[in-house]
Amino acid sequence: EKGGYEHFMLKEIHEQPRSIKDCFRGRLNASEGWVSLGGVKDYEQKMINAQRIIMVACGTSWHACLVGEYLFEDLARINVEVEYASEFRYRNPIINENDIVIAVSQSGETADTLAALELAKSKGATILGICNVVGSSISRITDAGSYTHAGPEIGVASTKAFTAQVTVLTLMALSLAHKKGTLSETKFRTMLSELEIIPEKVQRILERNSEIEEIAKIYKDATNALYLGRGSSFPVALEGALKLKEISYIHAEGYPAAEMKHGPIALIDEEMPVFVIATKGTSYEKVVSNIQEVKARKGKIIAIVTEGDTDVKAMADHVIEIPDTDEHLVPILATIPFQLLSYHIAVMRDCNVDQPRNLAKSVTVE
Ligand code: M6R
Repeated sequence: EKGGYEHFMLKEIHEQPRSIKDCFRGRLNASEGWVSLGGVKDYEQKMINAQRIIMVACGTSWHACLVGEYLFEDLARINVEVEYASEFRYRNPIINENDIVIAVSQSGETADTLAALELAKSKGATILGICNVVGSSISRITDAGSYTHAGPEIGVASTKAFTAQVTVLTLMALSLAHKKGTLSETKFRTMLSELEIIPEKVQRILERNSEIEEIAKIYKDATNALYLGRGSSFPVALEGALKLKEISYIHAEGYPAAEMKHGPIALIDEEMPVFVIATKGTSYEKVVSNIQEVKARKGKIIAIVTEGDTDVKAMADHVIEIPDTDEHLVPILATIPFQLLSYHIAVMRDCNVDQPRNLAKSVTVE
């Protein structure tokens, strides 16, 4: 049932070219120039008119929401607030009939996320869901939603569900942007074509598996790690750190790269691996200077860069190249090397990769 792979997690990581494709099957056609999410179509105008959209989730799904926030705001110019479901529900939040709350959940059973939705519903908000498990509690109580169609995810560490969540949020943002007119037709079409070929680019990253395994060998005994990114790569840094923590039990933290100088920089010495997303784009130069700050303190830099990069390569201890793509789609690609890295480190440390200690696949307690 593991399809020849040693663990479900590795199988699920490798399934991503297919799961992403399944996610946009029937929803995206680049040559005809359309994108459509049937499930939420009737709510699109309401989303466009809304003062704000609130996204609620936990763990990895919360990271997907942070990417979603960036996409909705940048592409569709719709104001988004992302909340931990557990915090939202206990804070007496101000919500009313004009609000739209979107819950993102692989299992569709996470107790805190479900309770946050129930609270929002009781205050009259429109509630939407992005779930993977068909027929799950969240998908049943929501007014409408879109499934991620990633297929069953068995490994406790979420991998293909995350990339599918980000894909659905990208489709949603593009559809809203198109309807609202915040994207030029040319830009819209270019993004659709880029999205359509993302699965092949994911495949090319998976082919770097043995290269990533070599890097894992070097850092497997680390006791701490930092993950840095800016813009929509910041949530990728958070996700990279969570993946390392949960399956390899190495303490890791994700930070917006610019925040390093406000505290975490004090941690850096020759023992500290710093994983950085340094792909080409608007914050490239800024990230390069963050890398220099780490190198000046003898930290080890493992950077995810765009294929053909030379500047970061000259400074970093290791680089992992990913194919060039539209900046908005980088999170889908940049997350793959971190999944593989955490996987290999956990295996080398003899950890139970698919069933990490103290964790359950779906957290149905509050
Ligand atoms: O099923 P959900 O997406 O609602 O689960 C939320 C979190 O419990 C989940 O993402 C958790 O953080 C994963 N184990 C992370 O890999």
